[in-house]
Amino acid sequence: MTRIEDEIARRRTFAIISHPDAGKTTLTEKLLLFGGAIKLSGAVKAKGKARRSRSDWMKVETERGISVASSVMTYEYQNCVFNLLDTPGHEDFSEDTYRTLSAVDSAVMVIDAAKGIESQTRKLFEVCRLRDVPIITFINKLDREGRDPFDLLDEIEQVLAIEVTPVSWPIGMGRNFYGCYNVINDHVMMTQRGDADNTLSEPEQCKGINDNKLDKLLPQESVALLREQLTMAKGLCPTLNINAYREGNLSPVFFGSAINNFGVKELLEGLVNLAPSPAGRSSNKRFVLPDENKVSGFVFKIQANMDPKHRDRMAFFRVTSGNFKRGIKLISVRNKKLVNLQNPMMFLAKERETAEEAWPGDIIGIANHGNLRIGDTLTEGEEIQFSGVPSFAPELLMSIDTVDPMRAKHLSRALTQLAEEGVARAFRTRLGSNWVVGVLGALQFEIMADRIRTEYDIIVKFTPIQLYTARWLESDNLQVIKQFSDKNQSSIADDHDQTPVFLARNEWHLDNAIKEWPAIRFLKTLENTPEHFDD
Ligand code: G4P
Repeated sequence: MTRIEDEIARRRTFAIISHPDAGKTTLTEKLLLFGGAIKLSGAVKAKGKARRSRSDWMKVETERGISVASSVMTYEYQNCVFNLLDTPGHEDFSEDTYRTLSAVDSAVMVIDAAKGIESQTRKLFEVCRLRDVPIITFINKLDREGRDPFDLLDEIEQVLAIEVTPVSWPIGMGRNFYGCYNVINDHVMMTQRGDADNTLSEPEQCKGINDNKLDKLLPQESVALLREQLTMAKGLCPTLNINAYREGNLSPVFFGSAINNFGVKELLEGLVNLAPSPAGRSSNKRFVLPDENKVSGFVFKIQANMDPKHRDRMAFFRVTSGNFKRGIKLISVRNKKLVNLQNPMMFLAKERETAEEAWPGDIIGIANHGNLRIGDTLTEGEEIQFSGVPSFAPELLMSIDTVDPMRAKHLSRALTQLAEEGVARAFRTRLGSNWVVGVLGALQFEIMADRIRTEYDIIVKFTPIQLYTARWLESDNLQVIKQFSDKNQSSIADDHDQTPVFLARNEWHLDNAIKEWPAIRFLKTLENTPEHFDD
C-alpha cells in the first residue's frame, strides 16, 4: 500500500445525527474520551460556567445555551483517525446540517430506547438517504426502561424503510440491564455499575449463545430471554452484509448506554471495521478519487467569531484528494484567487492546532477575511467544481432595516457577509433597493439580529411582508430572464452574488410564473456551480 492509500484506509469521517436529547452530546463526549482526545468526560457539555466558557464559540450561543454551529473534532482510536463532524440539533439549522452531511462518509444515528424514531431523526435520516450516506444505529439509554428491542428495530425498518440487523443485543434493560451480547464476535460485555473512572470490563468470549458460560454470568431468566430473542432476531433480520450497509440499504444496530460508557467501545470498533474510509467526490467535470496526487477539496461551512480576538472567518475545508501540506498553493476555482494556506487549522476536540499535513477525509480550518464561501472548490489549478453543497430557498421572509438610517450602508455589508456565511439569504429588491432576508427556521431571524448587533453594532428591525417564497432564476437564454425581470419588476431581487431571484407573493403567483415562462427554471435549491459565481 502506498502512503496515501494507507492514510485513506485508516480514516473515518462521520457525523452523529439524532433528535435533541437522545444523547448525541453524551456519545460525542464518550467517543472523544475513548479516543484519548479528552481526559475528563464533561468537556463537550460542561455545566454552568465551564460550559459557557468552553463549548460555546459564539456570543449568541452563549446567550441561548444552544449549539448553533457545527464543529469538527479529530481523535484517534486503534490506529484509525476519526473526524467527527458535529451537526446542530436544533431543527432551524437543517441547512447547516445538510452541508455538514455533504462532507462526511458515514453517520451514526442515535435513538433514545424509550422514544424510538422522533421527528428530527427522521428528517436527518432522509438527508443521509438522499446522499447514500451509510448509517450505523446506536440505541441509547438502555439503563432506563425503554421499548422492546424488536419493537424498536421494527419501527426503524418501517418508518425509515431501511433493513436493520443487530450487531449487539441488549440483555435486559433499566434496572435489569446486564450488558450486551455481540452477535458477530460471540462475546458478552457486562455492565459494571458504579464504575466511576470509566474502566471497562473485558469481553467474555463465548462459543455461541448456548455456551453455558452465559448461565454462570447471568441470572437464569435473563439468559433464557436472551437465547429466545437472539434466535428470533437471527430468523427475522438479515445477516450483516457490509456492502448493503455501505450502499445505505442496511443499518447495523448497536445497543448501549452512552452515559455509562456502555456500548461505546463496541460502536467505535464498529466504525473501525464497518464504516467506509473517505470516498472521492463528483465534480462538474469528473469524479475525483481520494488517492490522486493533486490536492483538492471543498468548503462546506463558514463560521465567524471562533476566536473573539480576531474578526476572521473560518472556512471548514474537506480534503477530497491528495496529501495536503502546510504552505501548499491552492486556487479557489470560483474566482481563480490564490488562497493563503500558511496557517491551516486542525481541530482536536475543542483545541485547535496548526495542521502541518492532512489527508483525504480530513477537515482543516482556513482563516480568511471573507474571500472563501460555502461550496468553494480549491484545487492545485484544475478547474473543477465539486457538487452537492446546496443552498435552499428560504421558507420565511421578512423585510429588514436599521433603526438608525445612517447605518444603512453598514447593514448592506453585514447582510452580504452573513449571506456568504450561509446564515441567511439576503435579497435586495430591484425596486426600492430594500433588503429582504429569508431563512428556513424562525430562530435564525433572532440569531441574525443578535449577530448584527454584536458584530456590526447595528440595531435592526424586521417587518413582516406578504411574500410566499423565493426562487432563483435560471435559463439557458439570459434574454428571457431579462424579459421576465422587466415584466415583474416589483417581484425581482438579487441575492448577495447578484443571482436574480423571484419573490412570489403567493402560491398562485409562483405557479403562474412557472406556467407562463417555460424557458425559465425557478430553482428551490441552488448548487454552487461556477457560472453562478462569475466575478
Ligand atoms: P443531545 O445532545 O442529543 O441533546 O443529548 P445529551 O447528550 O445532552 O443527553 C440528553 C439527556 O440524556 C442528558 O440528561 C443526558 O445526561 C441523558 N443521557 C444521555 N445518555 C444517556 C444514557 O445512556 N442513559 C441515561 N439514563 N441518560 C442519558 P439531562 O438531564 O437532560 O442533562 P444533564 O443535566 O445530564 O446534562
